[in-house]
Amino acid sequence: MEKIPTIVEAVADLTAEVRAVTLRAADGRELPRMEPGAHIDLFLAPGLTRQYSLTGMGASGDRYCIAVKREPQSRGGSAFVHDNLTPGDRIDISPPRNLFALHSDASPAVLLAGGIGVTPLYAMAKALQDRGTSFRKDYFIRSLDLAAFHEDLAKMGGQVRFHSGLDPEETRRTLEDAIATAADGTHFYICGPVPFMECAVSVVESAGVPADRVHVEYFNAAPVESGADAGFELHLAASGQTLRVEPGESILDVLDRAGITVDTSCEQGICGTCVTRVISGIPDHRDMYLTDAEKAANTQMCLCVSSVKEGPLVLDL
Ligand code: FES
Repeated sequence: MEKIPTIVEAVADLTAEVRAVTLRAADGRELPRMEPGAHIDLFLAPGLTRQYSLTGMGASGDRYCIAVKREPQSRGGSAFVHDNLTPGDRIDISPPRNLFALHSDASPAVLLAGGIGVTPLYAMAKALQDRGTSFRKDYFIRSLDLAAFHEDLAKMGGQVRFHSGLDPEETRRTLEDAIATAADGTHFYICGPVPFMECAVSVVESAGVPADRVHVEYFNAAPVESGADAGFELHLAASGQTLRVEPGESILDVLDRAGITVDTSCEQGICGTCVTRVISGIPDHRDMYLTDAEKAANTQMCLCVSSVKEGPLVLDL
């Protein structure tokens, strides 16, 4: 994977839980342009790679800005960012990737943000405002003092609405209202924690919004059963090895036991870091990263959560 060496230029607390980090290229060159909705990988430490949405390119237009919430259940990434990153630190990143791109025509947009899911939608709100596209943003947050970018978003006026301290039923009703009052042809962009995502997606689907106008970005996933339903043989074409995956074991577990290292990050099937080429066999795709078309093609799979439907499974490893 291509890596870009960067230097931490600044860190700043946006709220008690959210820290902004600004990165610049270590060699002083311009960083590749970002599109709203894009994210980068941060290679924080050996075995610790995390994805964060870009919130902008800074006032100078050649920086990458991210905002990271300290997660109480952190598996290392957000705690590392909050506790270790200081200005002057060197850190490798990936070029931006965008799996949550804004539509390019003039159709209106509704941005539905839950908590720290605001980060890609903040970049989108700025882009939509700059290009003069009609949009509305509904930002659901536990309390206003925890709302990252509150001041900037409030300056955008009535098209940004903050909903703080709602219970699940109130959240659902507010989402129903936001969706029912949207103009025909609106694109919906949804990002937030899993319960918020599930609620928002079900409300959008119940309202009959066509799937091609519903765009979602998961930053964590509901638990996925990654273990095999039945044992199978795993052939590794490049190394010529054959490994046995027993029922209940994940492919990643078996590779790890055999001393074969695969780059991983989320280990939840959402980031795509572990995607590997499938030479033959039909995977049982359990990830949320590959598109439906990519899953149907069966030429690649996410090793962290997916298993096999029809073996033998031959991987390009
Ligand atoms: S490690 Fe993220 S999809 Fe597998």
